[in-house]
Amino acid sequence: MRVLEIQTENYRNLEVKKQTFCDGVNFIYGQNAQGKTNLIESIWMLTGARSFRGTKDADLVRFGEDFASIKAKVFADDREQEIKINFAEGKRKAFLNDVPQRYPTEIIGTLRTVLFSPIHLSLIGGGPEKRRKFLDAAICQLKPTYTALLIRYNQTLRQRNSLLKNQPEKNLDFLEILDTNLSRLASKIMKNRLDYMVSLNAEATKIYSEISMDRENFEIKYVSKIMKVSEFTEEKFEESMLEKLKKSRETDFKFGFTSFGPHKDDLELYIDKKPVKNFGSQGQQRSAALSLKLAEAEILNKKFSDPPIVLLDDVMSELDDLRKAYMVRKTKNWQVFITGCDKTALSMMKSGKAYEISGGKVIYTEDF
Ligand SMILES: Nc1ncnc2c1ncn2[C@@H]1O[C@H](COP(=O)(O)OP(=O)(O)O)[C@@H](O)[C@H]1O
Ligand SMILES: [Mg+2]
Repeated sequence: MRVLEIQTENYRNLEVKKQTFCDGVNFIYGQNAQGKTNLIESIWMLTGARSFRGTKDADLVRFGEDFASIKAKVFADDREQEIKINFAEGKRKAFLNDVPQRYPTEIIGTLRTVLFSPIHLSLIGGGPEKRRKFLDAAICQLKPTYTALLIRYNQTLRQRNSLLKNQPEKNLDFLEILDTNLSRLASKIMKNRLDYMVSLNAEATKIYSEISMDRENFEIKYVSKIMKVSEFTEEKFEESMLEKLKKSRETDFKFGFTSFGPHKDDLELYIDKKPVKNFGSQGQQRSAALSLKLAEAEILNKKFSDPPIVLLDDVMSELDDLRKAYMVRKTKNWQVFITGCDKTALSMMKSGKAYEISGGKVIYTEDF
């Protein structure tokens, strides 16, 4: 999987005109606020996801303009393809090989990337929402049909929450229907998440032990308030969730929020059986975050026999030499985009091309 060429128009501050990239390491350096993250984000957008910075589509268009686009030639599924995304009037339109897609999410699965940015360094210490997002985003790329399932679940959840908030007379018949639908969708989400957990645990444990040179044991547990995950079956889960939703109705009406479901779950991470969140050193937390992200990449690599594109935004300076070296080794022969303020990280890397970015313009400077 490779990005061969990118062109942007009015995308944030970028002015990228048919820029080609190499198959190995592409190192992008430049001062602050020049567009390094914007370039990484523009590649990320080609996957069909939303901005990882939580920016609304409307705000991706350059200030003062009303239209933006990203166009790229990529090598995916053993052939050259073209992905284009237009942004206008707060909406986006995606094209795959010049064919307009009905929904912009339809391009999910064409280009697979794994992003590692400073946001992910707080994957361990931050709240559960970040870890759920990590899990969901990873599954969406692995299994694009999961995206539709998530959208349906979130829609139903919003409907239920709005009913809880806005209908003090308690429309119980409609609530009954929503509860049934929500539980059914939830059990399918759980099935996907728990399947993914098996691979994630295997890969992340292996990677963590390599980083720690076999000195520490890393483990991830999925925690649900609905039932013990070791006893999970879709039927049992659906039943148990329905029951929990019924029992928590009074509280849910009081707070205007659904208190049970996969939107409340979490991942618990352990090093040598101790929760990393409470007992892990900063270095251990970084290794754990790195292991999760590299495991995500390895799972995609194995499933499709094709490595994903790795995007490393501003993380090299945050990792020590040992972890940096591990990362470089692990992504050897993959296409990687790395950003940094200066070229010091280059000494760690074997070969590739360097580009300077300034005022949104990308200029190739050297081979290394
Ligand atoms: N919609 C937009 N239109 C124009 N410029 C934008 C837009 N969104 C962000 N920017 C500009 O992009 C720059 C930040 O780019 P970024 O890629 O985050 O920089 P860095 O090189 O530090 O990673 C800022 O100068 C910001 O004003
Ligand atoms: Mg940046």
